[in-house]
Amino acid sequence: MSRYKISNFEEYFKEYKKSIKDPKKFWDKIASENFTWYQEWDKVVDFNMAEAEIKWFVDAKVNITKNCIDRHLAKKGDKTAIIFEPNNPDEASQSFTYNELHQKVSKMANVLLSQGIQKGDRVCIYLPMIPELAIATLACARIGAIHSVVFAGFSASAVAARINDSECKMVITSDGGYRGNKTIDLKGIVDEALVNCPSVEKVLVAKRTNTDVQMKEGRDQWLAPLVEKASDNNAAEIMDAEDPLFILYTSGSTGKPKGMVHTTAGYMVYTAYTFQNVFNYEENDVFWCTADIGWITGHSYILYGPLLNGATTVIFEGVPSYPDFSRFWEVIEKHKVNQFYTAPTAIRALAKESLDYVQKYPLSSLKVIGSVGEPINEEAWHWYNDHVGGKRCPVVDTWWQTETGGILISPIPFITPTKPTYATLPLPGIQAVLMDEKRNEIEDNQVVGSLCIKFPWPGIARTIWGDHKRYKETYFSTFPGKYFSGDGALRDEVGYYRITGRVDDVIIVSGHNLGTAPIEDAINEHPAVAESAIVGFPHDIKGNALYGFVILKETGEKRDKANLAKEINQHIADHIGPIAKLDKIQFVSGLPKTRSGKIMRRILRKIAEGDFSNFGDTTTLLNPEIVDEIKNGKI
Ligand code: WT7
Repeated sequence: MSRYKISNFEEYFKEYKKSIKDPKKFWDKIASENFTWYQEWDKVVDFNMAEAEIKWFVDAKVNITKNCIDRHLAKKGDKTAIIFEPNNPDEASQSFTYNELHQKVSKMANVLLSQGIQKGDRVCIYLPMIPELAIATLACARIGAIHSVVFAGFSASAVAARINDSECKMVITSDGGYRGNKTIDLKGIVDEALVNCPSVEKVLVAKRTNTDVQMKEGRDQWLAPLVEKASDNNAAEIMDAEDPLFILYTSGSTGKPKGMVHTTAGYMVYTAYTFQNVFNYEENDVFWCTADIGWITGHSYILYGPLLNGATTVIFEGVPSYPDFSRFWEVIEKHKVNQFYTAPTAIRALAKESLDYVQKYPLSSLKVIGSVGEPINEEAWHWYNDHVGGKRCPVVDTWWQTETGGILISPIPFITPTKPTYATLPLPGIQAVLMDEKRNEIEDNQVVGSLCIKFPWPGIARTIWGDHKRYKETYFSTFPGKYFSGDGALRDEVGYYRITGRVDDVIIVSGHNLGTAPIEDAINEHPAVAESAIVGFPHDIKGNALYGFVILKETGEKRDKANLAKEINQHIADHIGPIAKLDKIQFVSGLPKTRSGKIMRRILRKIAEGDFSNFGDTTTLLNPEIVDEIKNGKI
């Protein structure tokens, strides 16, 4: 990938202006200079924002794994592609060269084909952070099957909902997974999920924990013997630029998760370009992103972005607190990591612990450190900058979303002066704008507005699987003709953006994007619950935690409230996953609602925060008296 040839900040502005003035020329050059195509495009971009129809590199033919792997073999076949660092530091780490990765992905691709998977079929991947996860994902891409990676912390019913939404034909999982001192029964969860998944014909099971699992005759097979038998010769499918590459589910403001669809060529160009430039990746650097491949951060910046650049990428199975709070720093030192990319919630959790954990290690290999997933508060930013980056590594606070495919707003290291809590400036090619309440574009600086992007970029998701209408309504209708992110932002006097948080019903807890609706649905399914409302409230480590206001049915009123609260949380863990558990539950007799029946969440938010100063205009409330009751009952 050609490096961003900008030597100073003024030049950045010039380049940026050029990219905006002629985006087609800008992306055309990047796409033609850095990838292997079976056939180039007729048109760089074709779009109609009002209809949410977007195509990039129209009619081009390509295979992303050819670009991630095969293309590098001649010059760097023996270079390390993947370093696998296990959960337990006593277990040896592993590494795979590009040659080895090529062999493994080709074999896996042939396994998929032999099991009847064809181009366009959906494959659900539910694996811990082990090499098989990367290999299976790439193998799908190699044969044109659409991967749907589901984070291995989701519950059986959440897995089932995702499998059914895109009618996956196959599930790839493992006997179990390790996370810190826990062992997770992944195969058991899959078995439970599949009771309700008629589309799944085959299940392939990788071995990780050697736990005893049940193998269903005719459906389940161990992966390793199939791989062993498979040929390592696989030609790679010729894909159209706009063929779907993957589906990745994200929460929305209704109960059903949105299957964001990313397509092949645009995603490839965008992740490769942003990886190179945002992390200033140089040949022989070791890059480590601590996310899980089950999230977009892992898709784009553990797998695709790094491999497209022929980089060395670390896959870490564990957690920052196991065996102790120095694990991240130990791994950085062990593998001489040069770029480190993590989430504010992890930084805050580690900053709370003794400085000795981090100061034990020189961390002198680090060059650039990144943050992603939620706003990074000033204290965490400084701690990260001072103690991890040693004040010499630029902190790249990268703003983006599952929907955007790659980073949109971020400093460019060694070029953009950083400013704590600011994601700073849109990358070249990204036309960020702020919109006011009247839906007009805000021209001034030092203002807050709704963050939109007014011109497509190659990495934008193209649709929601099976529901283009919802895609159009969610992202292109609030501000017609523009992509609406759902985030609010402040623009300072020099044009730097600071993300202020979601303006919709999504709450970011420990960097996980949680919709209020699916959690409320889960709570409401509890037999004792009549209705519920969830809001976020500030939390030192998680950024936000969840506060639930719950109305009980008569039967519930008679029950022991502490037990009930525990049951409700267990219910949420079973339906969605432990990440969505509530920190606080308050039982109430009603919820503040407008005449049209909409819950006035801003009031609940203030109560949850303990701020009773001013509830604003409550005249549209049907039941204003409830506000006092809830306030007085606050725990
Ligand atoms: C939401 C998207 C894409 C990476 C992982 C999350 C929030 C993301 C930042 C940042 C402030 C951020 C936004 C966004 N967010 N990065 N640097 N500063 N907020 O992906 O789960 O799709 O969540 O995460 O609110 O809308 P996601």
